[in-house]
Amino acid sequence: MQKIAVVKGDGIGPEVIDAALEVLDHVLPGLQQVHVEVGYGRWRRTGDAISAQDIDTLKDCGCILFGAITTPPDPSYKSVLLRIRKELDLYSNIRPLLGNGMDIVIVRENTEGLYSGIEDIGDKRATTLRVITLEGSRRIARAACKVALQRKRLTVVHKSNVLKSDTLFLNSCMQVAREEGVLADDMLVDAAAYTMVRSPGRFDVMVTTNLFGDILSDLGAGIAGSLGLCASANLGDRYALFEPIHGSAPDIAGKGIANPVGAIRSVSLMLQWMGEHKLAANVERAVKAALDEGFLTPDLGGTMSTRQVAKAVVSHL
Ligand code: NAI
Ligand code: MG
Repeated sequence: MQKIAVVKGDGIGPEVIDAALEVLDHVLPGLQQVHVEVGYGRWRRTGDAISAQDIDTLKDCGCILFGAITTPPDPSYKSVLLRIRKELDLYSNIRPLLGNGMDIVIVRENTEGLYSGIEDIGDKRATTLRVITLEGSRRIARAACKVALQRKRLTVVHKSNVLKSDTLFLNSCMQVAREEGVLADDMLVDAAAYTMVRSPGRFDVMVTTNLFGDILSDLGAGIAGSLGLCASANLGDRYALFEPIHGSAPDIAGKGIANPVGAIRSVSLMLQWMGEHKLAANVERAVKAALDEGFLTPDLGGTMSTRQVAKAVVSHL
């Protein structure tokens, strides 16, 4: 049987991952779990947030369940998640957004754009390079087309009227959509944000660059009702990492009230990736049943704890 790496991380990461593991242990007992401690907590203790050996362990497992990691504004601290996404070449970030009239999958480019990490920071002038490559655009477009072929259609979201780098992104995506036989259109990112709020049913699968995808997916989570509801798959050609889209939420950490649904849905995405489609659908169905029954954490207006929601999900499996 396959093994997975588990990174709980900082803040509410351990709370939501413990809830997700309760569900995973129930549907796939005996799956070997390799716990890897990386992140801000470890950096404060040891001065090292993640080592080369940790990266090797993650690669050896191939599949990672990930909570959330705090990234302090300290310029000497480099984002651990960005490093993992780069080193494992997890170039596509797939984010299903469901609820309140919305059924959208955002496919976000995960390795370049404004998150290229190429920066020149001075006291009077600071620049960040926005890198768009033909191959980077084509491979994220192929990943998006794969999703769109199982659904309806694709919208390429960009800002090519102002950012000429996005002309390359737009043209590459439209070309790949034609090659793959996917029905595709495009929209400017500001109009797309407006349209997501006004008529979310307008969109099916959206493909976009790194920063736009980051922002639009939190916007979508707001439309769905909470950041705590949404899951994501970070996929490359060899490795995969599954995580809720929220961060470490220091404002509610340690209180036992974080919404575990995003982390539990990340388990469902992981099961899908493993080919366990039936188990994945069962988890998704159990989440819906628990929510419909009123097992809601405070972010959704309820009074339930993280553990109570997890137990309710397990009771529906
Ligand atoms: P955040 O996503 O941690 O929190 C934003 C707001 O949403 C907060 O009010 C929080 O309480 C709420 N929230 C988030 N997840 C929730 C959940 N499961 N249940 C209930 N409420 C939830 O974003 P924020 O505050 O901007 O960042 C906090 C830290 O997390 C920062 O250090 C940031 O760098 C890091 N971060 C890490 C990410 C990751 O590891 N993938 C992603 C985003 C942020
Ligand atoms: Mg984000």
